[in-house]
Amino acid sequence: MSASDGDAQTGATRMRDEATAWQMLLALRRKGGPAACAIPPGAPADVAALVELYLPFAQLSFGRPIVVAHLGQSLDGRIATMAGASRWVTGEADLTHTHRMRALADAILVGAGTVRHDDPRLTVRRCAGAHPLRVVIDSERRLGADYRLFQDGAAPTLVLAYADRVRPGERLGQAELVGLPRRPEGIAPRDIIAALAASGRHFLFIEGGGITISRFLMAGALDRLQITVAPVILGSGKPSLTLPEIVEPHQGLRPRLRRFSLGEDMLYDCILHD
Ligand SMILES: NC(=O)c1ccc[n+]([C@@H]2O[C@H](COP(=O)([O-])OP(=O)(O)OC[C@H]3O[C@@H](n4cnc5c(N)ncnc54)[C@H](OP(=O)(O)O)[C@@H]3O)[C@@H](O)[C@H]2O)c1
Repeated sequence: MSASDGDAQTGATRMRDEATAWQMLLALRRKGGPAACAIPPGAPADVAALVELYLPFAQLSFGRPIVVAHLGQSLDGRIATMAGASRWVTGEADLTHTHRMRALADAILVGAGTVRHDDPRLTVRRCAGAHPLRVVIDSERRLGADYRLFQDGAAPTLVLAYADRVRPGERLGQAELVGLPRRPEGIAPRDIIAALAASGRHFLFIEGGGITISRFLMAGALDRLQITVAPVILGSGKPSLTLPEIVEPHQGLRPRLRRFSLGEDMLYDCILHD
């Protein structure tokens, strides 16, 4: 066997191990497999890192809903250019990470701005796993029905709007419209979480953008905030988080966190509530 055959075989074995580890994590999450999962002895470093990163999300038990948000940003805290282009601030590994989080979640949520700029599909394509419910906040009903996730029928899809903007039984393309109360802060994260929990969706993954995630963070409604930082400086663009002004740096949030390398990027998994 040549050296390159050996490299190819090692690569194939590693992929199989990673795929096996991922299947175990999925089974753990869906309660269809083992009651526990551990890093196999002698596992390659990438398999060990995979298990370490996703195990907390795979073995969730739901005494209460869990909300995790993710943003991919530049070194200078931008998630997109001013024109709204965000493909790709972070790299391939972070993209795969978001698909893995989708596969573990019961529902994925984005704000109207993300649908307008990215026309995302919000399905699981880069790993094994089922598509979760897709949820869009469009409180004033500014989005048209032409976006892919309203038309493709790939997964159940909800549009959350103020109740006074929704007629009974109304749809947007194939998506169902759900009316929620008009609160001083807009649609309240607690109303969203309660509406999803009422239909058995207890693990919510929020994929952006910055405005939507900032509102959840401000409301104290996030359990984890995942920020992936790419080694690029955009110098201008849409901000990651925007929170009420503070006066002194010590007033900033300093959460406990876990760090993971994702290719050239660094993922900070901030633990806001245990
Ligand atoms: N790098 C990344 O990780 C990443 C991820 C996602 C998106 N992006 C990029 O980020 C940009 C979009 O982000 P963004 O921060 O501008 O917008 P966004 O968070 O996607 O959407 C914000 C809009 O959603 C509605 N909304 C969200 N939460 C609401 C609430 N609680 N109550 C009422 N309405 C609510 C509002 O729409 P109305 O103003 O219409 O009421 C709000 O203006 C795009 O350029 C996209 O490409 C980057």
